[in-house]
Amino acid sequence: MAVQGVIDRYRPLLNIPEYTQTVTLLEGSTPLIPMPKIAEVLGKGCKVWVKFEGLNPTGSFKDRGMTVAISEAVGRGAKAVICASTGNTAASAAAYAARSGLRAIVLIPKGKVAAGKLAGAVAYGADVFQINGSFDDALSLVVEISNRTPIALVNSLNPFRLEGQKTAAFEICDELGFSPDWLCLPVGNAGNISSYWMGFKEYNELKGTPKPRILGVQAEGSAPLVLGHPVENPETIATAIRIGKPARGEQALEAAEESNGRIISVSDDAILSAQCMLAASGVWVEPASAAGLAGLLHEIKAGKFNADGKKITIVCTGHGMKDPDIIAHSMPAPRLITARAEDLEAAILGEK
Ligand code: F0G
Repeated sequence: MAVQGVIDRYRPLLNIPEYTQTVTLLEGSTPLIPMPKIAEVLGKGCKVWVKFEGLNPTGSFKDRGMTVAISEAVGRGAKAVICASTGNTAASAAAYAARSGLRAIVLIPKGKVAAGKLAGAVAYGADVFQINGSFDDALSLVVEISNRTPIALVNSLNPFRLEGQKTAAFEICDELGFSPDWLCLPVGNAGNISSYWMGFKEYNELKGTPKPRILGVQAEGSAPLVLGHPVENPETIATAIRIGKPARGEQALEAAEESNGRIISVSDDAILSAQCMLAASGVWVEPASAAGLAGLLHEIKAGKFNADGKKITIVCTGHGMKDPDIIAHSMPAPRLITARAEDLEAAILGEK
């Protein structure tokens, strides 16, 4: 099969207008990586896969939604797109806009966007603005501008983003030949959990594939869907999901309820240790992307989740290279030695 982007691969299943003009970077078709070491820790006879969305063209799952949102915008003659972002949406919007010759305008919370994401947005040529405020503040500003001007909004309030992102659920079912018992993933603005649930429901209707239960995971300091109210000053080391008023909050709660799953929160420490655990199996993800595994471990430890015999897919939404500074927080810096072979040898043998 020739390499395809998500529009070509799943076009008949996407609810998109005729006028859509495909803009693609051949996103999607990301690997579903078996994680036997982690499965052993979680339960007896359980099977675990990571859907590694960090391997999309700009390093996150956002590309699935962005190809569709930008393709629709181009088809209807838009000249510019705008988004608020904790970083990944910005980089993705910038890349797809660059590819199609649109202007990309992105608004980010100052000091709260990881280096690899900001660098991407700048490299792809977006007009990047920052505010002394949160993602939520930025989102309300860009919504207002998109209502006042012809600039197209490409945050996940845009329904075409969800159309693209639901293809990840299709891919999981197509690749496994069945759907997992559980799907675990981070929740920020709540577009992705809503998209997955849409995708699984549609495959269930079309092909009878059973629907998984969904475990959505927020960071403790940014957990409006767990607390049941907006969080004014969200905080977490997982800056991708540092969001206090999720735009798709209602839909996310519905997805959790309808799937007989739940949305929980975990501490930053739990996120960082899940990040290390994934890296120890060769999969380096950004902190937010480790939240799904952190949530699963949390529930198992609390006796609320029996993983024995279960088939579990963990969605890892963004690549570790997006947030290289994390080494300063959770991982040891490399040891400095003198530039002499004897010292290197001694260091390797643990003598010094
Ligand atoms: N993981 C990563 C790496 C993200 O960048 C995001 C969201 C999420 C998870 C949560 O997904 O918002 O659909 O619930 N990042 C957005 C951004 C907000 O601006 O890049 P969600």
